[in-house]
Amino acid sequence: MAIWPDEDSQSKRLYERGLKVYPGGITRLVPWLEPFPVYTKIGKGAYVTDVDGTSRLDLLNNFASLIHGHANPAIIEAVSKQLVLGTAYTNPTEVEIELAELLCDRIDTAENVRFSNSGSEAVMSAIKAARAYTGRPAIVKVEGGYHGSYDYAEVSLDTPKEQFTTPPKSVGYAAGVPDRLLEDVYVIPFNDPETAASVIRAHRDRIGAILLDAAPSYLGFTPVSSEFAASLRDLATEIGAVFILDEVISFRLDHGGAQKKFGVKPDLTVLGKIIGGGFPVGALVGSKEVMQVFDHRVGRPLVPWSGTFSANPMTMTAGKVTLELLTPELVAHINMLGDQVRAGLTRAFVSSGFPGQVTGVGSMFKIITHQRPVYDYRSQRHSPAESAAMMELQRMLVLKGFHVSGAGMGFLSTAMVAQDIDNFCAATEECLRQLPHPESGK
Ligand SMILES: Cc1ncc(COP(=O)(O)O)c(C=O)c1O
Repeated sequence: MAIWPDEDSQSKRLYERGLKVYPGGITRLVPWLEPFPVYTKIGKGAYVTDVDGTSRLDLLNNFASLIHGHANPAIIEAVSKQLVLGTAYTNPTEVEIELAELLCDRIDTAENVRFSNSGSEAVMSAIKAARAYTGRPAIVKVEGGYHGSYDYAEVSLDTPKEQFTTPPKSVGYAAGVPDRLLEDVYVIPFNDPETAASVIRAHRDRIGAILLDAAPSYLGFTPVSSEFAASLRDLATEIGAVFILDEVISFRLDHGGAQKKFGVKPDLTVLGKIIGGGFPVGALVGSKEVMQVFDHRVGRPLVPWSGTFSANPMTMTAGKVTLELLTPELVAHINMLGDQVRAGLTRAFVSSGFPGQVTGVGSMFKIITHQRPVYDYRSQRHSPAESAAMMELQRMLVLKGFHVSGAGMGFLSTAMVAQDIDNFCAATEECLRQLPHPESGK
């Protein structure tokens, strides 16, 4: 029987078909794996089975969106019932109110809600809301913070070393980003309240929004310090800007979200991923005061919001069941599995002698193939050789039956048990023993 990455595997065949219709053969960057992706056939609980019949523990969970793993029976039952009643209507439904009510119950700062189809779209709407509310054009974001694929939110996501300045300058991500756009994004280093204060105060009359992820993925899920979170809150209030917390991934950290865990009080919060129960989703929640920019009853709203599939009943149903199932006890359980994975991987690094470390918080972790202390974007950055080592580790883990991302990220689900974590840590240790050491910093 063929297995990935054999030349006669089904994955290879599908990749060749994909090459004819997609640039680079794929339609989304994240699943890329050398020499070609593993094509999935079935997902069940904590495992995915590929088109050649190989099962693997899925530590990706569609990039953090499946908190209960694949094909959860309660979610399937609920969406199956909805499926035969219709998948999308123009008119509103009861379930869209139920999911919004659940979010308002759980999230301290959520008074009003709007749904979209992705986290990117919700970040875009948050920025538009802040501009409309304040009448100011610019935003502030953290260097290396990923907030989806809106041009403004992508600024300085992946600044090359040669362009490092202090304070960080705004650097476009996709080629061709207009220089004019960069003038409306100010960039600050993570967990550095002094630099943040000087950048923000210097441009106070232009800044409409301060955008923060409390545990940014590109920064190894390093948690925000209480000092930094409080200073951004105070600065937003001082200059009259809207403070936006992006919890698209980090909502999973606490029953009340990252803001509960870290004591952050945003005006607007962006959600996505797990609140759609495996279906496409994004949401913006926040104070009535700011969210009224979307209210049409005043005539033309300051920010008109639509979206053909926004709040469709399939997503709303899956999201509602997902959140009902996600009790505080289950959140604590996956956070404990997160502690187990970080402890196990730390042991794997020590016993294998490979120069690396694991970072992360709650049910999120990141394997780092260098040993420098990680505290912001620049410090977590991998050299080309270190990144190549991580991608090789990813490939070796796939061969042993585990999926992590090419950047070393993993996200746990409630479908996993302690034995899954032990197996993963043991396999990683075996891989690390065989993995050539990258030359530090090269
Ligand atoms: C923190 C954060 N914000 C926004 C997004 C964008 O969400 P989506 O991929 O649903 O557009 C992501 C996606 O990974 C994210 O991690």
